[in-house]
This record gives sequence, C-alpha cells and structure tokens, in this order.
Amino acid sequence: VRQKIIALLKENIRNVPDFPKAGIQFKDITPLLRNPDTLELTSQILSRPFRNANIDYVVGLESRGFLFGTNLAQDLHAGFVPIRKPGKLPAETISATYALEYGEDTIEIHKDSFATGDRVLIHDDLIATGGSALAATELVEQLGAEVAGYSFIAELAALSGRDQLKENIPIDILLAL
Ligand code: PRP
Ligand code: MG
Repeated sequence: VRQKIIALLKENIRNVPDFPKAGIQFKDITPLLRNPDTLELTSQILSRPFRNANIDYVVGLESRGFLFGTNLAQDLHAGFVPIRKPGKLPAETISATYALEYGEDTIEIHKDSFATGDRVLIHDDLIATGGSALAATELVEQLGAEVAGYSFIAELAALSGRDQLKENIPIDILLAL
C-alpha cells in the first residue's frame, strides 16, 4: 500500500525545466497540493515514522516546509517552530548562512524556540544539496535542542544531500526524484 501511495505522490510532482533559471529542473509540488487525495495522503504518511519518537517540536523551513509542517506537528502532538528567511521573524533571532543549489541564503529562528534537550524534527518538502537542512540543524543545536529526526517528501538523489546530515539521526524521505 505504501509503495502505491508513494507512486501516486510521485506522479503528482511536476518537473518544470529551466526554472528559476536555465539548466535547473524545478520539482513543483503544487499538483500534489492541489489534488485532495495526495494532499491528505502526504500528510498521513509523513508522520508515521515519528509517532513514537517523542518529538517536542517540528521545525518547518520557509516556505514550502510550512505546507505540511504544521500538520505534521499536529499529528505528532508537537509544537511547530518556523525557520524563516531574513527579516521576517519579529523577536530576537539567531541566523545561519549556507550555499543553495542555486545561490546563497540565510535562515533565522527565534532564540526562545526551545528548552534545553527538546527533541526536534526538521521538516522540509525537498532535500537537494542538504545545505538548508544542515543550516537548520546548526540553529536547533545552537539553541540547546536535539535534532531527533529529519522528514522530507522528496530528495534529489543525485545530489546526495542526505549524506550531509548528521549520522545516526533517523531520516525519512518518502521518494527520490
Ligand atoms: C527549496 C526547497 C528546500 C531547499 C532544498 O527551497 O523547498 O527548502 O530549496 O535545497 P537544499 O537542500 O539545497 O538546501 P527554496 O529555497 O527554493 O525556497 P521556497 O521553499 O521558499 O520555495
Ligand atoms: Mg524551501
């Protein structure tokens, strides 16, 4: 059943060539969001591996990590903490800068997001180079919390982003593109 669901999800991720610039094959999840079946199934299937992982907070990466992040948090009865692009979070923040698949970016998190030892699940729609997930890991750890897992809908397998992430932390990636 899981394999059938994953095949359906994959069919609903669209490849858009040369976006945002020439040579980039953009993986567009808007068809998956638009289809009520895949919207619901993605949400259900994401939380399953972390049901018993005692997650305190799901951290979602702006912006596509917000789409399923709050739902994932609710399914795990955890709180949701946003990591945002610079200048968006109103209270005191810490930031990390990292290399993207294309260009460079900085992300921020509120300083008071966690208590020491909180167990955090980092979620995003896609892992490409792994740069943003790694930067998110640094932010979570700087605030004294523990990354207890990673959750992605898809990976660009050719970029091996998962190899950037810390060893011995569970990684759930639904499908490879
Ligand atoms: C995309 C994607 C991931 C990230 C993956 O986000 O949604 O967040 O890139 O790349 P990485 O593994 O190489 O870091 P993007 O920066 O395009 O912004 P968006 O989510 O706001 O569309
Ligand atoms: Mg993103």
